[in-house]
Amino acid sequence: MRAIVQDRYGPPHTLSLGEVPTPTPGAGDVLIRVHAAGVDYGVWHVMTGLPLVGRLGFGLRRPRNRVPGMDVAGVVESVGADVTAFRPGDEVYGSATGAYAQFALARPGRLARKPANLSFTEAAAVPVSGVTALRAVGRVTAGQKVLVIGAGGGVGSFATQLAVAGGAHVTAVCSTAKVDLVRSLGAQGVIDYTREPLTGTYDLIVDIASVRPLPLLRGLLTERGRLVIVGGEGGGRWFGGLGRLLAVRLITPFTRQRLDTLLALVRTADLDVLRDLIEAGTVRPAVGRTYPLAETPNAVGDLAAGNAPGKLVITVD
Ligand SMILES: NC(=O)c1ccc[n+]([C@@H]2O[C@H](COP(=O)([O-])OP(=O)(O)OC[C@H]3O[C@@H](n4cnc5c(N)ncnc54)[C@H](OP(=O)(O)O)[C@@H]3O)[C@@H](O)[C@H]2O)c1
Repeated sequence: MRAIVQDRYGPPHTLSLGEVPTPTPGAGDVLIRVHAAGVDYGVWHVMTGLPLVGRLGFGLRRPRNRVPGMDVAGVVESVGADVTAFRPGDEVYGSATGAYAQFALARPGRLARKPANLSFTEAAAVPVSGVTALRAVGRVTAGQKVLVIGAGGGVGSFATQLAVAGGAHVTAVCSTAKVDLVRSLGAQGVIDYTREPLTGTYDLIVDIASVRPLPLLRGLLTERGRLVIVGGEGGGRWFGGLGRLLAVRLITPFTRQRLDTLLALVRTADLDVLRDLIEAGTVRPAVGRTYPLAETPNAVGDLAAGNAPGKLVITVD
């Protein structure tokens, strides 16, 4: 089958189109004929092998999985003997191993039925970013004030819509080029961080860009407000943003504010919640750009450059 392959860590040109054997599902696996695959920051981390501590999981010398890609939407081709939740022909979306290929394997607990009102391309934009946003925003109540930093990106475009859907008053933080996008997602307030400082007081701050000092963010929170650090690229080669996450953990016992860090895993239950919201018309993926499989290196490069609005998606078949 055709697949994007990677034999060493490095920049996007270490990814190339090649031929590899079609994977064979084990007893607990689902084999998916991939129609589209999303591009998210996890792919960039595995491609570069950064931060270096991540190589304990990705593979010490080279990526353990030769074919990258996690977010997937496609049709079930076959299932292992122990799989009862899906059968051949089902249209699914979720998280797979090696999604940048014509076929990919997934565990059933990381898949769900695809939202009926989405194309495969749109569905592939949802899993990692949508589930992360769902976990980050949590339960908001009507009238709460929410600040989403990084609102014009993959996670942020979902977080903004989910907070708006919960009845919150959402202020989106983004660069000038993404102001129209975040307004279209329902943000009532917009702060263009290239022109003005962050101001206001918020019950919830979802920090997806994570470059601002913790005291500054805490100063924007109400006395019992909640800050969720989702991500952000920065920090050293060894630990990246992990030092910042540790700092948040150390402060937590000494404040009435709730300071959270997040590691969201794609699971069927969350995909089901997102599907219901999408089919009800409450949330819609903001697909900014699509690329054919061979152009995957450009897609990952564009994500890392930070200039792509919303989600980037690879179309496979
Ligand atoms: N914790 C988890 O489980 C989890 C899951 C998924 C992703 N993540 C992490 O979350 C981060 C974002 O992922 P993503 O897929 O949403 O990436 P993305 O699509 O590139 O979005 C990040 C957004 O941040 C904005 N941004 C950059 N610098 C900023 C600044 N100084 N102030 C405000 N906004 C800024 C970027 O656009 P503009 O600057 O043009 O506005 C971009 O829209 C990554 O670090 C990723 O590793 C964590």
